[in-house]
Amino acid sequence: MKHPLGQSSQPNETNHMTQNSSIDPSLYEYMTPGCLNGSSAFITGGGSGIGLSIAHTLAALGANVGICGRRADKLKHAEDALLVYGGKIATFAVDIRDADAVCEALETCGRVNGPVNYLVCAAAGNFVASAESMSSNAFKTVVEIDLLGTFHAAKGAFEQLKATKGSALFISAGQAFAPYYGQSHVGAAKAGIEMLMQTLALEWGENSIGVNCIVPGPISNTRGMEVLSGGEAEDFWVSTVPMRRLGQASEIANLSAFLATPLADFITGTSIRVDGGQNLTGSSRFNEQVIQSLGLEE
Ligand code: COA
Repeated sequence: MKHPLGQSSQPNETNHMTQNSSIDPSLYEYMTPGCLNGSSAFITGGGSGIGLSIAHTLAALGANVGICGRRADKLKHAEDALLVYGGKIATFAVDIRDADAVCEALETCGRVNGPVNYLVCAAAGNFVASAESMSSNAFKTVVEIDLLGTFHAAKGAFEQLKATKGSALFISAGQAFAPYYGQSHVGAAKAGIEMLMQTLALEWGENSIGVNCIVPGPISNTRGMEVLSGGEAEDFWVSTVPMRRLGQASEIANLSAFLATPLADFITGTSIRVDGGQNLTGSSRFNEQVIQSLGLEE
């Protein structure tokens, strides 16, 4: 398939898995090994990309980690890599759209890894298509994976987060804040995640549960970037970032690790951008490129 901003075809999953399977080289200079000992994290979409990078970083700091995703082979690969940190790793091959299965995975994770005190919702789906060309089922699919999936996991984790006075982190996107051409489904879902985050922070504050979002910018070697650029348009994305580079998945993971510590206990209901300033340049250049590549210009 031709991508709107690039040449390429199918996503290279192996590439994503290997290149994101590492912690920030400076992690131990600034965060103490073992600082998350006794923590139990559960990460949706933890088998690859940003979710996997978060899994690595939390495990590297001592957390027990549960990851869920649709593909057992990806999860097995991730599990093998995560076991090197010495903590407990649990994997759950579930579709985030299946509320009962997600709930059961969270319960099992709590039993085998210890009560979940940190939920990370990173599962997402994306493709570029104009609303006009998209079926209702296509729109619904992304809203179900991103928004409903986040709700399923948050609701499924609530009792454990309440018991542990834990916290939840949702992975949002710039599409929640500005309209991106070909991203009506993603924009609606991510904007929904932002408001879900704020509402849960409001409702769950009395239980000392913090709920926050991270808004990543263009992150190197992720499926999301590949979907949005075809893997060939790195220069385009770099030119939209004031810091003139793509981010690394580990840079999202670094903030997620800080938010997992008691140092972040009073942070709730907020969205933090980790994007090199990309949001400051808006979506108009992306929109022009997509309109052109979809052949929609006048
Ligand atoms: N353009 C328009 N519609 C598309 C599409 C595209 N590029 N890709 C899928 N769809 C439509 C399908 O045609 C289908 O609608 P229909 O039943 O009316 O024909 C609907 O979306 C569901 O597609 P399907 O392939 O059955 O869904 P799935 O559950 O197997 O896959 C996706 C979900 C489409 C989001 C898939 O890309 C995916 O699994 N992505 C996960 C990884 C990912 O996207 N990561 C990036 C995160 S930022």
